[in-house]
Amino acid sequence: MASGFDVLADLVRGATFDDFLLRPQFSVIERRDPAAIDLSCRFSTHITLKRPLVSANMDTVTRAPMAIVQAEEGGLGIIDRGFRSGDIEPQVREVQKVKRMQHIIIRDPYAVTPETPLSAAAALMKQRRAGTLVVVDAQRRLQGLLTERDLRFVDRTQGTVASRMTPLPALVVGHGELTLAAAETIMVERKVKKLPLVGGDGTLLGLITARDIDRQVRLPFATRDDHGRLRVGAAIGATGDYLERAAELVKAHVDVIVIDIAHGHSTVMARALDGFRKAFPAVELVAGNVATADGVRFLAERGVNAIKVGIGPGGGCTTRLTTSFGVPQLQALVECRQGAGEGGVPLIADGGIKRHGAILEALLFGGDTVMLGSMFAGTEETPGDVVQKSVVLPDQQRSVKVPFKVLRGMASIQAIRDRLDVEDDEVVDLEALGAEGTEVSVPARGSVRPLVQDILKHLCSSISYGGARSLDELRQLFRADPARYLVKLSASAKRESYER
Ligand code: XMP
Repeated sequence: MASGFDVLADLVRGATFDDFLLRPQFSVIERRDPAAIDLSCRFSTHITLKRPLVSANMDTVTRAPMAIVQAEEGGLGIIDRGFRSGDIEPQVREVQKVKRMQHIIIRDPYAVTPETPLSAAAALMKQRRAGTLVVVDAQRRLQGLLTERDLRFVDRTQGTVASRMTPLPALVVGHGELTLAAAETIMVERKVKKLPLVGGDGTLLGLITARDIDRQVRLPFATRDDHGRLRVGAAIGATGDYLERAAELVKAHVDVIVIDIAHGHSTVMARALDGFRKAFPAVELVAGNVATADGVRFLAERGVNAIKVGIGPGGGCTTRLTTSFGVPQLQALVECRQGAGEGGVPLIADGGIKRHGAILEALLFGGDTVMLGSMFAGTEETPGDVVQKSVVLPDQQRSVKVPFKVLRGMASIQAIRDRLDVEDDEVVDLEALGAEGTEVSVPARGSVRPLVQDILKHLCSSISYGGARSLDELRQLFRADPARYLVKLSASAKRESYER
């Protein structure tokens, strides 16, 4: 008997998101509530997400602010590699910003010695945006705490940290490795917001803050590592400084590296993976992009932990126009899932998702998670300036200023130019570089957070329509019997469904 996937493979040949609707089933859930419905999924072999959303590694989509919101909301952000070759520090800084956002115990709090001049301590606070510095001696034994409040109305050009810090005898201190609950009890009883932890010999073990405890409780779905820090990924190339870049990113505690090139099923990728695995045998690694079963097997055999699927469906892509290569995204997802095997290496459905409903399709047809670029474009957390442009109102003969931000493909001329750092007079040569992406202006809008929450609500509604209790259950029901769900659309049905 044909398996669910054989049936699917037949049905999706030449098809993509808008070619289908899903037949509604008897609903078994009372509330379409993302807090109650399990949306968890595999991002990679060793990383699980509570929500299946990943923000794309594009230089107009994901830097620290986007990655922080994605991780806080249960997904993941991948910091792009749109930094100049050899210019590794700026990308590392983005990773550090995410990793320092929240903790259970801050293991490496910003520290000064009692002899540090107040001016230097104040500068460190400002530079790192840290409200508290831990004061330690040369042996890293705790001596005190210095907070912003200790420096208020004080002449910072005079004196040392010792003159303003709260000294050790006046501090509430935790002894040994405390659980978060034990620390919270002490902090509530003693009415303190900061609790330094020390070992038997007085050396600093870490710092627990009330703000971190609040965040752990307030964001129950957040994607965190074993130290309670938000998770974040970062993309690197396949040549040039890629191993050096990876080494620095790993030092900054990045959770996953993404080797992202336009055609991931290639000699260039084989060489890159070989070099990467020799240098970093245990680092979580995603590679891509591919769109075929052979491409998936090629990457899986080389030990990657997840694979990005999608050649040319992306909003900023022109690959299909310029090369005539690619596979319609639903077909690609089904074929790639067949290549990986059910339960095999996790797949990230990357690109082409323009409406919320398509996310569910990507997750049913083969994706474990979805990567979104243009859907997040223009939000507050995307990098880039807001530009006011005049737009003519169609009905009234006047124009208004509308705020826009830029969204550009990573293979667009503009993105390539910024990475190469070339001068304007070389642009003529750039035009001949074979760009495979475009740059567009998109309306600037508010925070991405409500958008993510809206997407998750819609995903829960989909699960309800699909007659399941969780994302995983719907996936299983769908893959066991795709014909029960799939309605292939005629041209007029597509218009009725998706044209508004
Ligand atoms: P969406 O549709 O969500 O797609 O905007 C995001 C994905 O598009 C890919 N991407 C590109 N593909 N040329 C391409 O062929 C490009 O310049 C380009 N830039 C981004 C990428 O996989 C991203 O995650």
